[in-house]
Amino acid sequence: MRSHPDIKKILLDENTILNRIDKLAEQINDDYTDIENIMIVSILKGAFMFTSDLLKRITIPHIVDFMALSTYGAESRASGEVRVIMDLRHPVQNQHVLIVEDIFDSGLTLQFLERILQSRNVASLKTCVLTQKEGKKNPEIKIDYLGFTIPDVWVVGYGLDYADKHRTLPYIAELKPEVYH
Ligand code: IMP
Ligand code: MG
Repeated sequence: MRSHPDIKKILLDENTILNRIDKLAEQINDDYTDIENIMIVSILKGAFMFTSDLLKRITIPHIVDFMALSTYGAESRASGEVRVIMDLRHPVQNQHVLIVEDIFDSGLTLQFLERILQSRNVASLKTCVLTQKEGKKNPEIKIDYLGFTIPDVWVVGYGLDYADKHRTLPYIAELKPEVYH
């Protein structure tokens, strides 16, 4: 198992993640059977691994597009500000959009994104999020497909980073607090 001195503990190993993704994909395939085409909106960079493993299991017609949003630096977290770094290539008007996101912490990112997509007059909008931090809820946002609830600690791996590091670890792990404090 690839390990790293910054890692405190593995919370979700690769098998656990992939087994859960099997289930999420099944649910999505079932729920969207009557829809001609779905537009997957994957949020970079964090959701890249999740998106790839999830979409390998999606059997209904779909296209995938990417949007890059700013992860928070200390300032943006305080102000609740989210920025679009790279917008979608495809128009989303009248599309059935499924957002694929890595993690739900305060929910501000998803709230911001939903507002943007709704303003572009999508036909429908749902969210698929791999992890949600325990106790974190945002009454404005409903997660339609959730992978796991995890402890409220800083996690890395499987797309998630700390200062852009550790994204390519094949598992989700808790970072040693001394690394991010
Ligand atoms: P929110 O807007 O507070 O829900 O935060 C969501 C964004 O913050 C995610 O897209 C991640 O990029 C980042 N984030 C929040 N918590 C973590 C974490 O524990 N590890 C890595 N990234 C995180
Ligand atoms: Mg991030």
